Amino acid sequence: ATMSVLGAPTETGTYRRGCIMGPAAYRTAGLIESLRDLGHVIAEDRDLVPDTVEIDDAAHAPAHGVGATAGWVRAVRRAFAQALARGNVPVLLGGDHSIAAGSLAALMDVAPGTHIVWLDAHPDFNTIETTMSGNLHGIPVAIASGLPGADLIYGGPITPLDPRQITMIGIRSVDPDERKLLKSHGVTVHDMRDVDEFGMGELIRRAIRRAVEAGARLHVSLDVDFLDPDVAPAVGTTVPGGATVREAHLAMELLHESGLVASLDLVELNPFLDERGRTATLMVDLAASLFGRTVMDRPTTTW
Ligand code: ARG
Ligand code: MN
Ligand code: MN
Repeated sequence: ATMSVLGAPTETGTYRRGCIMGPAAYRTAGLIESLRDLGHVIAEDRDLVPDTVEIDDAAHAPAHGVGATAGWVRAVRRAFAQALARGNVPVLLGGDHSIAAGSLAALMDVAPGTHIVWLDAHPDFNTIETTMSGNLHGIPVAIASGLPGADLIYGGPITPLDPRQITMIGIRSVDPDERKLLKSHGVTVHDMRDVDEFGMGELIRRAIRRAVEAGARLHVSLDVDFLDPDVAPAVGTTVPGGATVREAHLAMELLHESGLVASLDLVELNPFLDERGRTATLMVDLAASLFGRTVMDRPTTTW
């Protein structure tokens, strides 16, 4: 494919500094070379520049970094939409997960039927009103769905994402109000219990089947904390009991074989917390699996 690699070195959506180094760490770990080795064409590889947005943070407490985050979200939305409109596969390098508010809105601008595969320990389905931490990396899915905070962050109307287009896998940390919102909006949430009981392969196959039936393409949003902290320590919001290296690669390989993946977010990498680059390297290897790397040739997969 022809790809647009877009860096969004943000950290205003978190309480911990370091995600600003994320895009540089992915490139250092060999992301661009890995994608080229698979035969992909990198049409652009650059870091974005945020819009300037003046918002009085104090008016939205406990939410913090509202103006700065909104500036990034708007810049990401534009660049991501432009890449999609050109027929490129956007690969968004975070930065914290707040920037997914930009990629999700861009998808609804350009390819509104797209289904979302959200791989994360957290649903990030708080609104600007329910957030207890005030960290805006906890709200992107809700605001892209038009919930409170959307107008403020986007600064204008969006085509909201239908929450029924979303499948979340790996979930193991949910806030009380967030849990109610997920249910009332019909988000498909597979927690780690589901992963243990049914297996990663089956859950990914279900998401793929749902997309095939809907004639939809897939966007993958991969948060580092989807992975178990033992194998991926470089993230501020570690939660024990995450996906193994093998489960994560299986997910990526099946998603690749679906032929439906049209865009990707790689988010929440905090290189300041890494051990000799191992998390950045694992994330790059997972991206390579998502975009076609295999160990051996395989027979064609059916869903
Ligand atoms: N639900 C918690 C919050 O709202 C955690 C969010 C973590 N999000 C993330 N992208 N790591 O603060
Ligand atoms: Mn997240
Ligand atoms: Mn998370």
